[in-house]
Amino acid sequence: QDSAENQGQPREQWSGTFGFILASIGSAVGLGSIWRFPFVTGENGGGAFVLIYLACILLMGIPVLLSEIVLGRSTQRNPVGAFRRKAPDTPWFLAGFIGITATVLILAFYSTVGGWTLAYTWDALSGEFGSITVGQAEARFGSFIGEPETPLLWQALFMALTMAICYFGLEKGIERTNKFLMPMLGVLLFVLVLRSVTLPGAMEGVHFLLYPDWSDVSLTTIFEALGMAFFSLSVGAGAMITYGSFLSKKESVPSAIGNVALFSTLVSLAAGLAIFPAVFSLGYEPSTGPPLVFITLPAVFAHMPAGALFAALFFLLLTVAALTSAISLLEVPLRYAGDEFGWPRGKGTLLIGGFIFLLGIPATLSFNLLSDVKGLAGLPIFDSMDFLASNVLLPLSGLVIVLFAGWKWGVSRLLSEAKGTSDNGMPFKFMWGFILRWIAPALMAIVFIFQIVSS
Ligand code: PFF
Repeated sequence: QDSAENQGQPREQWSGTFGFILASIGSAVGLGSIWRFPFVTGENGGGAFVLIYLACILLMGIPVLLSEIVLGRSTQRNPVGAFRRKAPDTPWFLAGFIGITATVLILAFYSTVGGWTLAYTWDALSGEFGSITVGQAEARFGSFIGEPETPLLWQALFMALTMAICYFGLEKGIERTNKFLMPMLGVLLFVLVLRSVTLPGAMEGVHFLLYPDWSDVSLTTIFEALGMAFFSLSVGAGAMITYGSFLSKKESVPSAIGNVALFSTLVSLAAGLAIFPAVFSLGYEPSTGPPLVFITLPAVFAHMPAGALFAALFFLLLTVAALTSAISLLEVPLRYAGDEFGWPRGKGTLLIGGFIFLLGIPATLSFNLLSDVKGLAGLPIFDSMDFLASNVLLPLSGLVIVLFAGWKWGVSRLLSEAKGTSDNGMPFKFMWGFILRWIAPALMAIVFIFQIVSS
């Protein structure tokens, strides 16, 4: 039972489709597109990975996105409550738990990187990136994360900001921050792309990103691309069930889906175009891993007029983009605790946010004090958390969500509920029905089975 309803309060709602679209784009566009996409693409060989990523968005990401938003709106519940309401006394709700676990894990290591963006905003503001070479940028980043105190403090600040925005609630906190700053980030990214592709020798990077070389593609590439698609669309975690639960039945779902998919993909590709031409032009390594963007970009800014200013603005906007994703991550367990146990927002924010911060500490320490400690598959702690959440939990919960939507709840019911009062609902209903029931679950299941068999 919904505690807010029990107390006679109506559920909070977005101010119309626009508010919802802004918030969902805010959730989708974040460090995933600008920090994670470039380094994962770099580690997986470039162009072929990008094409597989795009196919995963279309054939698996978007079907899960559709199912999540409609399920959330139809039930007005958190991810666990939503399944329980549609299919009481069945185990489907476990998908909700997998999603909630994923959000907690993701936010834990996301806050490490959020802390890096805050620190880099500060450094850029003090003019540190006016004239820096890629070698200096690498040494700088190395010494920054090489000791625990400073990164932990920035991480704590990032978590505190996330918690503060969540605490002050939906309307005020989430919508307003998205309205102006996201378009600005887009413009700045565009300027960066222009600078990067006009550096000497940049075409090699463009080629790396856009030219598919299939000879290096393995099952791992596909697995990584699937995780990346889910991560960048914010699906599989129940975040879109949660956001959908605040959407009024009058509003149109298809336009929201189109916008989320379009913007998150465009920003990922733009980030790739900002990074790889520079990586090759500056003679750097595409497969550097998580620090890639923090080493490459300062060196690109140093090649721009008023570079220090651009750098400060860019890292500031990236921090904002990270925060609008982080609040959607925190909102999931918060809404669960609120709906199911009646926890007020303040208590939920403090306890859950505090817990996630503690969980994030080892992620930050895995770059210094705990760098020798190995977790899953021999990976460092930070990478293990990312691997488990992004490559395993998100697609797993996504698979259950589309199976639920396609087979238990029913495609025709789902598609008719996607309709707002003033639109016709999903276009190409037959095609979406087919993708939801057959293509998406079959592809996800195949990727999983092969991954398990081959490991
Ligand atoms: N989509 C976000 C990003 O790309 O930064 C990360 C994210 C947010 C993943 C919310 C999952 C989620 F539920």
